[in-house]
Amino acid sequence: MDLSIKIVSLHRKHNIYTMFIFNDKDSLEAFLNPLINQKKTIGFVPTMGALHEGHQSLIKKSVAENEITVISIFVNPTQFNNPEDLEKYPRTLDRDVTKVKEISDLILIYTPTVEDIYGNNPAAEQFDFDGLELQMEGKHRPGHFDGVGTIIKKFFSIIKPTRAYFGEKDFQQLQIIKKLVAKENLPVEIIGCPIHRANSGLAMSSRNERLSAEAKAKATYIFKTLQEAKEKFQQQSAKDVTQYVYDAFEKDPEFELEYFEIADEETLLPCIEKEPNKKYRGFITVFINGIRLIDNIALY
Ligand code: PAF
Repeated sequence: MDLSIKIVSLHRKHNIYTMFIFNDKDSLEAFLNPLINQKKTIGFVPTMGALHEGHQSLIKKSVAENEITVISIFVNPTQFNNPEDLEKYPRTLDRDVTKVKEISDLILIYTPTVEDIYGNNPAAEQFDFDGLELQMEGKHRPGHFDGVGTIIKKFFSIIKPTRAYFGEKDFQQLQIIKKLVAKENLPVEIIGCPIHRANSGLAMSSRNERLSAEAKAKATYIFKTLQEAKEKFQQQSAKDVTQYVYDAFEKDPEFELEYFEIADEETLLPCIEKEPNKKYRGFITVFINGIRLIDNIALY
């Protein structure tokens, strides 16, 4: 066994089992290549760690639909436009490994170093996603989607997945990954999975780890407002519904609404006049106690 593959032997009740954690791409590729040659199906769930039930549901879906599942845990520096956000991003590897093994002992975890991925030059490739990257998150986080496109393209070339799983909470990211795959002709099926919510309605996010219990309770207002917006959108114009959401957040100084936008699901262009046969979504980004949360809702 290659030394760079760390084998974690753990006791679960009285059974000892092993699990593979790969810290570098060469050993992961050496392990996967024979399986790829045998035409095994590979499901891939990319994450930045701090795993929550949303990630776990993606992993379970991959395990159910593929012969092998690989999950990556990597806080990708090139997608952070704010150094403080990168520094404070939660890193909880031991807990993450436990959560993965609760699902299956046979899942492969790839947790590379920055050097393994980028050598000594952590820089993003520049992409043209036909304008998808210029809307919403793209306006507020310049360069973010170049960083996401770069890391996902690198992961796809190392892991060669049959299917890759992404949550709809990052809906713009999901559309951009589909565009990346279409434009670069990559042989992988992209599976979008519904937003996983706590009972309170709060969308599961690794960033929730940084919220106090009070802030978490308060943040449930985000989904409540989105649900109201959805109801209003059945009768009212996009402009009026947008105004409603801005007014709703204006009332409470603990929230800072970065944007709310109603946009076409496919093009992500803002809805000016409602058009029949188009599917619209409401997209929101709100700061609460300095923590940036995003969410969205289908308006149909
Ligand atoms: O959604 C995320 O967690 C990240 O953007 C991803 C897809 C793992 C790429 O770093």
